[in-house]
Amino acid sequence: MAHTGAVTKAVVPVAGLGTRFLPATKATPKVMMPIVDKPAIQYVVEEAAGAGLEDVLLITGDNQESIAEHFSRAYELEKALSAKGNDRALNAVRAPTQLAEVSYVRQDSPRGLGHAVLCAADHVGNEPFAVLLGDDLISADDDLLGRMIAARQRYGGSIIALMEVPADQTSAYGVAAFKPTDDADIVAITDLVEKPETSEAPSNWIVIGRYVCDPAIFSVLRETPPGRGGEIQLTDALRTLAVADRDACADGGGVHGVLFRGRRFDTGNKQDFLRTTVEFACARPDLAADFVPWLREYVSALK
Ligand code: UTP
Repeated sequence: MAHTGAVTKAVVPVAGLGTRFLPATKATPKVMMPIVDKPAIQYVVEEAAGAGLEDVLLITGDNQESIAEHFSRAYELEKALSAKGNDRALNAVRAPTQLAEVSYVRQDSPRGLGHAVLCAADHVGNEPFAVLLGDDLISADDDLLGRMIAARQRYGGSIIALMEVPADQTSAYGVAAFKPTDDADIVAITDLVEKPETSEAPSNWIVIGRYVCDPAIFSVLRETPPGRGGEIQLTDALRTLAVADRDACADGGGVHGVLFRGRRFDTGNKQDFLRTTVEFACARPDLAADFVPWLREYVSALK
């Protein structure tokens, strides 16, 4: 059965404290940290727009003015670059303003990702919507969001993205229990376990930062008590929907998982942030010719 209600809106929560990147994140939001020469948030808004979601709501916290400035016109700068005839820079300055209709809602205090998503309720209304976390960058070639939107169309309910990791890494993530569907790369979620002991992980498939949520998530979030870290967790609300559907005791539409085998760059921790920066630089035609030979030399000289 095809499920009506197209996904047209993206919600991007960016109100976290970014404690792992202090002091850089003292006055600058974490998602404004550049990967090469673009802030992480621009890659995410590009991904949403690329999947046809041109209504992008950012859930912001303190010190987030620079994000709004990034997605707004900068007339003085544009005038100065134009006077210099620097078209490359002019295009770079204008590009983020042309991607999507970006709007903002403030999360009064960082009470968790689930609470941040709940702040989108008025803007989203009674429609399915995508959630993208700025910490995870997904290669545009993989069209993960497009596949998730198609899965929502086919199965209804909410859709999460799952990625396989080695067994000894599952304890750092939310891990899914699931059963197969008729589609090779889509599974029906039966449970979600947050940061399980390695021996208790129900699979090697972890939840990554892309979601398509049924609007039923809002009423569940309102009833979801603070969980791990005293925060209202999106995973807890999705688990409620998955378990209720499994046990056939509610009609939140259930949760399906899209198995993702493409490239994901986790920029939320320092190690992976550094790796992402190097990989992105090596993939840039305008930088690689100089950067890659330097990198080889640098690495070969490392003790
Ligand atoms: P994280 O758990 O990675 O938290 O949030 P964080 O604050 O960004 O980083 P650390 O752990 O303190 O270093 C995952 C995503 O959810 C958003 C964050 O901005 C991030 O994109 N978030 C989290 C909110 O918008 N509000 C919250 O209350 C919590």
